[in-house]
Amino acid sequence: VLCWFYVFPVYRLPRDKDIVEEVLRHGDAWQKNQTSIDLFRKLLTDCCDPPRMFAVTKENSPLGKVLWYDGEFYHSRTVNNETYSLFVQDNPLQLHLKTCAVVGNSGILRHSKCGRDIDRADFIMRCNLPPLSKKYEEDVGTRTHLVTANPSIIEKRFQNLLWSRKGFVDSMKVYGSSYIYMPAFSMRPGTDPSLRAYYALADSSSNLTMLFANPEFLATAGKFWKARNVHGKRLSTGLFLVSLALGLCDEVTTYGFWPFSVGLDEQPVSHHYYDNIQPYKWFHAMPEEFVQLWQLHKSGTLRVRVGHCP
Ligand code: CDP
Repeated sequence: VLCWFYVFPVYRLPRDKDIVEEVLRHGDAWQKNQTSIDLFRKLLTDCCDPPRMFAVTKENSPLGKVLWYDGEFYHSRTVNNETYSLFVQDNPLQLHLKTCAVVGNSGILRHSKCGRDIDRADFIMRCNLPPLSKKYEEDVGTRTHLVTANPSIIEKRFQNLLWSRKGFVDSMKVYGSSYIYMPAFSMRPGTDPSLRAYYALADSSSNLTMLFANPEFLATAGKFWKARNVHGKRLSTGLFLVSLALGLCDEVTTYGFWPFSVGLDEQPVSHHYYDNIQPYKWFHAMPEEFVQLWQLHKSGTLRVRVGHCP
């Protein structure tokens, strides 16, 4: 099956056209609905308690606590002196942030001119150490408060930090003094690169603070969305961040969530705003996730920005 995928790297998502029509029909109008926001936050709090559980902290993961890897079958790591010392004390994020922007990496951001809009938010979350160079500034903005980093990026882009760490530390500077959020305890091969990333930043007195994603939160959030028709093997990074944002912020706006091959103008859209490398086909269910986000948009729970910003 894998070979077939490489020979015919076709990435066709279902119902692109229907979704485009639906989004166009709905137009730009959006009405915030406080009752829906409160209700959804309650559902999320009951299942996953995002503000308390999203990161591994000394408070939720004391010495001796068993962390069960959420992306592995029956694998765990017990918190010992070494790992405990790397955890932040308690939830480091302020509750009831006013406006939050969750920025996905879709090519829909290109020429969107959403940078200024994004930068205006009180708290800005981004996925997978995305490029923020001058070239993209107008479309994606410059500020970041939390950025995720997948251990596979550490492996591919920074030689697993086994050689020079300078390149890694330097390229993190673009994220200012934000939190870097790594799923260190999700898959076995991801733990060492995450710990190395922690030490690379700590040893260089970087302004970034490492937060390890709590596998319990990732698992409960996964179940929460599975019960809402998201059937991928694993939630996309973006949906984890949306879950966190809905638990933390009064008003959430998403940008760069558009896993479809055509845009609202029916022109082709690349998978990312910076490249067109397709995801591993069966891993995430981004179109299903988008449908859920769109429902939340329509109910006034969060705002999904597709296309241009005014
Ligand atoms: O690591 P992952 O494959 O989940 O993410 P990514 O490709 O770096 O993109 C970050 C996030 O943006 C994804 O997790 C999705 O939630 C969202 N995204 C999207 O909605 N549409 C795309 N074409 C690409 C990404």
